[in-house]
Amino acid sequence: MRVLSGVQPSGKLHLGNYFGAMEQHINGQDEHESFIFIANYHALTTIQDPKRLAALTRDVALDYLALGLDPAKACLFRQSDVPEVTELAWILSTVTGKGLLERAVSYKDKIARGLTPSMGLFTYPILQAADILIYRSDAVPVGKDQEQHIEMTADMAGYFNNTYHCNVFVIPKVKLNEAAVVPGLDGAKMSKSYGNTIDLFDTPKAVKKRIMSIKTDSTPVEDPKDPDRCSVFTLLRLLTGPDETADWADRYRKGGMGYGEAKKRVAELFEERFGPARQRREKLATDPAHVDKVLADGGRRARAVACEVMREVRAACGIVTAG
Ligand code: TRP
Repeated sequence: MRVLSGVQPSGKLHLGNYFGAMEQHINGQDEHESFIFIANYHALTTIQDPKRLAALTRDVALDYLALGLDPAKACLFRQSDVPEVTELAWILSTVTGKGLLERAVSYKDKIARGLTPSMGLFTYPILQAADILIYRSDAVPVGKDQEQHIEMTADMAGYFNNTYHCNVFVIPKVKLNEAAVVPGLDGAKMSKSYGNTIDLFDTPKAVKKRIMSIKTDSTPVEDPKDPDRCSVFTLLRLLTGPDETADWADRYRKGGMGYGEAKKRVAELFEERFGPARQRREKLATDPAHVDKVLADGGRRARAVACEVMREVRAACGIVTAG
């Protein structure tokens, strides 16, 4: 089974990104054939600063490698190292009705938030479909917000196969991430746009300060507390095993425990989990040539697969090239 995920380069990672997607991507490397790519062509729909885009692209690679992605197991690459996806996006656009794209919720959302709709923003799901189909991905792990894009991809694969009476494309399946929503400092969903994040690669001091500032209710120390309504407890559960989680739940319910204590434990667990990754990231950042080589190798492997599929695509629709 081949599993593919794309991530847009978008800056500093936080706990929500990690538990929402990256952890599954990284664990997947032991179970499936994994392809993980950095969607830098897609990022052009929002980032139009060349230095920033190039730096953010490399940052994603550093993040994944530091957190344990093993390039010997998973294929990590830049979308732009397989330029054939843009060719496939064009071909898919010729078998796809405009109405399908007009129904895209994420497009409508982006416009509602004030983005000017470029053609790239409108055809974004076609490029995403090309990303998925060009590697004949069986499954695509994504969050709920991307579910419709994967359904559209399955539609586009069907349009092509039907139009050209062939079976070139595998119809991909959505693999919904079941990760819990990670609460931010204010209890709302952790998100960069809410300014309520705990960033993975902040200094230990800054991380601790953020954790100690998590909003809790004003139940006095001696009173019983409801773990299920407390963000600190949710974070504890994400960061530790079932035994310790059960222990903390008891302590909440018994009373006599202050939120400060639970926060301190969250900070400790955070360091245990992400301290080593922070160090790995610092070390990797001193050797950009190594990171570039990892990406270039991944790109070559991915491109070999893509070129094979593209030969079949061109043959199916009668596009003749010299090469
Ligand atoms: N649109 C995805 C997001 O914003 C990123 C993405 C691009 C992607 N191409 C993909 C995800 C292919 C999965 C498969 O998160």
